Amino acid sequence: MKADLLLGLQWGDEGKGKIVDVLAPEYDLVARFQGGPNAGHTLEFDGRKHVLRSIPSGIFAAGGNALNLIGNGVVLDPVLFRGEAEALEADGVNLHRCLRISRKAHLILPTHRLLDAAGERRKGANRIGTTGKGIGPTYTDKVSRRGLRVGDIAAPDFSERYKAVRDAHMEQLAYMGMPAEGSAEFVEAEAEWFEAVEYLAGFVAADTEHMVNKALDDGLKVLCEGAQGTMLDVDFGSYPFVTSSNTVAAGACTGLGIAPRRIGRVYGIFKAYCTRVGSGPFPTELFDTTGDTIRRIGHEYGAVTGRERRCGWLDLVALRYAVMINGVTDLIMMKSDVLDSFATIKVATEYRLPDGTVTRDFPFSIGDEAEGAGTMEPVYRSFPGWMTELKDMRRVQELPEAFTDYIRFIESEVGVPVTILSVGPDREQTIILND
Ligand code: GDP
Ligand code: IMO
Ligand code: MG
Repeated sequence: MKADLLLGLQWGDEGKGKIVDVLAPEYDLVARFQGGPNAGHTLEFDGRKHVLRSIPSGIFAAGGNALNLIGNGVVLDPVLFRGEAEALEADGVNLHRCLRISRKAHLILPTHRLLDAAGERRKGANRIGTTGKGIGPTYTDKVSRRGLRVGDIAAPDFSERYKAVRDAHMEQLAYMGMPAEGSAEFVEAEAEWFEAVEYLAGFVAADTEHMVNKALDDGLKVLCEGAQGTMLDVDFGSYPFVTSSNTVAAGACTGLGIAPRRIGRVYGIFKAYCTRVGSGPFPTELFDTTGDTIRRIGHEYGAVTGRERRCGWLDLVALRYAVMINGVTDLIMMKSDVLDSFATIKVATEYRLPDGTVTRDFPFSIGDEAEGAGTMEPVYRSFPGWMTELKDMRRVQELPEAFTDYIRFIESEVGVPVTILSVGPDREQTIILND
């Protein structure tokens, strides 16, 4: 068998959680491959909403019978993991039965969060607008070869190893003008962290790379869940306004230990428009009432930080690039219903560069300012809106023609078929095309 991937093609929050939950009953194993609690994946069913941060969105599927893995590419905050896990167990999910955590996943320490805050403070107006969860510093330590991993918790000298890393962080924090050594708040945070580490140790730490490969050898179906989105990828996103992991398809290979030849379908997920939370250039950003309307109707506020998401029209230059980098085989379009009441819908098909030339190819830089639309001027094509409520539609035959025209145009521009449509946040509000 080959493993399928599902990943975001824009700046995150495309609706990955919802679709993983929808597809999960067809899979035996669902695995997160990168990111950490910077992610907020929302699932809605039976009138309830659940937000997952580190635990895969397959956790509710088929009554929790599918196995869910947190891969080696993920960074895990024991305190946030505990909060998330306890909430799920209170909801009746038997996590100990259906969750496995890679021994190689790196731990987020209390000082990583402080370093994240200190780094942002020093950047001032050029701050990235991180989620403040310590993601950058944790991946930095991983690459610097001094990180602590889930598998290290069992080592007899774990506390000493923790202290060595913490002391190095403390020196760094003092140098950055945010000393924390000895503060009552830090002492409390550290105690809470150690308690949470013990809680985490109660879960099965596993060599998940063996588990995934054995599952594929045995003919089981594996779905890999990405976090963030391609435009936030550390290599291919709008650097430096990105996250610190590879969010793209290749990240599933390194984040789970799956060889490239074992990757099957690549589900690329995007919204019918664009959003971005945090700083960085955003070519199609709308600064007018249209942007406000999208935000209001689409409830575009961060699932993790509650921040307002910046809103703009669909950007096909960025989407084509994301499809290319990920080798997307199937497109999934989300939040189509949000545009129901728009008389005109715009789509960027090209960028006009500062020197006046027009390109369809995503350029090296789309601007390096912390805020603002960037240095690109999008070239738009306008479409008449469908002006019909989509939320109760479940069959392709019911869809208005103006809407299917919009989809056909996207497919022709990007070269990949749209195979799933989402018309509302609930699990049920999903239309499978070309079934
Ligand atoms: P993720 O991080 O990619 O999993 O996405 P988020 O959960 O952060 O953000 C997506 C938001 O849109 C959530 O609040 C979902 O409940 C909601 N959502 C998902 N699909 C749809 C849809 O088709 N229509 C509407 N109106 N909301 C949706
Ligand atoms: P999901 O998985 C949207 C953004 C932050 C910031 C940048 C770096 O829910 O789609 P970080 O804390 O990772 O160092 O922040 O990345 N960001 C996200 N934006 N959705 C996410 O995850 C994000 N995770 C990080 O806002 O701009
Ligand atoms: Mg999210």
